[in-house]
Amino acid sequence: MKVYLIGFMGAGKTTIGRLLAERLGIAFYDLDQLIEAAQGRSVREIFEMAGETDFRRVERDLLQKTHFLGPSVIATGGGTFTFDENVFFIKNEGISVHLDVSFDVIAGRIMGKAPTRPLFRDVESASRLYQYRSRYYRMADHSIIVEADETPESVVARIIRELRDSGLHHSHSS
Ligand code: S3P
Repeated sequence: MKVYLIGFMGAGKTTIGRLLAERLGIAFYDLDQLIEAAQGRSVREIFEMAGETDFRRVERDLLQKTHFLGPSVIATGGGTFTFDENVFFIKNEGISVHLDVSFDVIAGRIMGKAPTRPLFRDVESASRLYQYRSRYYRMADHSIIVEADETPESVVARIIRELRDSGLHHSHSS
């Protein structure tokens, strides 16, 4: 089983993903970290030096390599699930879970940390990006509405319940 976590920047994909993997007893990968390891530079540097188009190419290539991973939870980047090719790949490859966090909560979390996130320049443009991306995120197999004060443990418990109820979470081996 491979679970892909989908959602906007600051939705908690890495935090939730790591904990979910631990609870399921499977490996955890973060796509941005796979990109950084493969490229030997940070996502921010790739954006600055090569531009977004090149970053998206590297992101797509690394995403496709996740085909060769065993059972795992994979936290994607906020833009990964907003390109048709990536959406098709993820839908074929595993289970997609959207962490649905309101824009207000996201903005509150990210403000002040914007320099590390090349696509979060100001609230207005981030809000437009959020609206635009929502239509893609809705294509995920599961959507988990995360409340502002909800703990990662609670979110993970709800994801596991949802996976179990839908019969998609069989064992560690598939
Ligand atoms: C991006 C989100 C980032 C990272 C890159 C682009 C985006 O990941 O992949 O900066 O397009 O929203 P996080 O969602 O983990 O911040």
